[in-house]
Amino acid sequence: MNTCVAYFSKSGNTEIAAEYLAEKIGATAIALKDGTTYKGVLGFVKGGMNASLAKKAKLNDTIFEQIAKFERIVLATPVWAGKTTPAINAVLENVDFTGKQVYVMTMQADPDCKDADKREEFYKEVITEKNGEFKALFAMFGNAPGKLTAREEIVKRVDETVKL
Ligand SMILES: Cc1cc2nc3c(=O)[nH]c(=O)nc-3n(C[C@H](O)[C@H](O)[C@H](O)COP(=O)(O)O)c2cc1C
Repeated sequence: MNTCVAYFSKSGNTEIAAEYLAEKIGATAIALKDGTTYKGVLGFVKGGMNASLAKKAKLNDTIFEQIAKFERIVLATPVWAGKTTPAINAVLENVDFTGKQVYVMTMQADPDCKDADKREEFYKEVITEKNGEFKALFAMFGNAPGKLTAREEIVKRVDETVKL
């Protein structure tokens, strides 16, 4: 089944995980570039606020069609303010998920990934509403905000957690 891994990453942890996963399963990695950089303390506050308010990032218009070309879609994102990121909100709003199998992979600062079940419910609801088939959420520890975990450690976490 042709597969893409569409990911947003601010500090690089999700990028490493998504690029590794794509390489491992022979999928196409698609980086989502949010025009807002969310740099520094103010950026952190703004990121948390925008995530809380379910704001959508302004992404390249062609990216949604590009993602919708695949039969199986993996969305990879950090957890922000207990929720998803503006880049992923834009994808959830603009991609046609009809007939697609959709997986979500999250990375976060909380090693216990508390409340991952609530996020799973959120993704399931949105994707089902858009006629997609939500398959699973894989929740993983990434690192503290702004910190980057070593690639070999991220590879280990992906291998242990993501079952496709
Ligand atoms: C704006 C913002 C909000 C965050 N909110 C949470 C949160 O609610 N829960 C959590 O466990 N981690 C939170 N984090 C931490 C990130 O999810 C974590 O550092 C993740 O590994 C970052 O992935 P990245 O390196 O791909 O950007 C937040 C980080 C940022 C920048």
